[in-house]
Amino acid sequence: MASIKHLVSLFAFEVVAILPIILIVYWAQKYGNGFSWEVKDKRKFNYHPVFMIIAFIFVMGHAAISFRILPLSHRVKKYIHATLNLVAVIFAIVGLVAVLDFHNEQGFPNFYSLHSWLGLVTLSILFLQALGGLTIFQDLVRGASDEVRGAYKPWHIAAGTAMVTLATATMLTGLQEKYGFANPEKFSAQAYTYNFTALTIFMWAFTVIYILIAVEKRTPENQREYETLPESTSQESVH
Ligand code: HEM
Repeated sequence: MASIKHLVSLFAFEVVAILPIILIVYWAQKYGNGFSWEVKDKRKFNYHPVFMIIAFIFVMGHAAISFRILPLSHRVKKYIHATLNLVAVIFAIVGLVAVLDFHNEQGFPNFYSLHSWLGLVTLSILFLQALGGLTIFQDLVRGASDEVRGAYKPWHIAAGTAMVTLATATMLTGLQEKYGFANPEKFSAQAYTYNFTALTIFMWAFTVIYILIAVEKRTPENQREYETLPESTSQESVH
């Protein structure tokens, strides 16, 4: 049974996951002249924030809260969590290629800004988390013992939570940087669009962290899956 807390948390999450996407697409259309993947077209840049926000806020965000919110068995949630994170990796790669192409085609230098450095760390964590999760929890490489899984689990959770805050810092510095390049009139609609996008991203981070800390898993105790851990007496699944 879903508690009121689960339903309200899910509703709040969906609001703060969808708003930044609407705002950034609106910004790209209204102030960035839309989208184009043509060579040397400056509008290629606009795919960067859109794909990154979809990757981290929407897709990775759903992956992060899936264990808390979904009323499914641990095993099924594990596959949903992994699939969503892999989709996030694909979206993030497209977002990265968009900005790298844009920089190279326009003759701009690469990786000079704080934003780009934070972005590289965030992307590295996303890729390493996916790799670690697939090899250790999803049995891509056979034979990860219960000890290895148990030892890796707190690192996976800590790195995942750190990624939420780091991705937030990256997106906010990216917005601030773009604001600086665009230099819109102060208190203009364009300036407010940046600010509101940043605020909704902050609210997303708060909501995800709240759910991770304060909302209990929806899987009932008797649905927890221990059958692959017959000798384990642990109450906490390490898969
Ligand atoms: C977590 C999400 C994001 C990641 C991982 C990320 C990552 C990166 C990386 C690695 C670069 C460097 C590309 C190069 O040097 O060739 C870059 C550039 C850039 N990004 Fe992002 N980004 C993210 C979100 C955003 C958002 C939301 C915006 C808002 C408009 C943005 C704006 C920019 C701008 C203006 C540049 C070019 C200037 C620079 O290199 O700093 N980014 N991003």
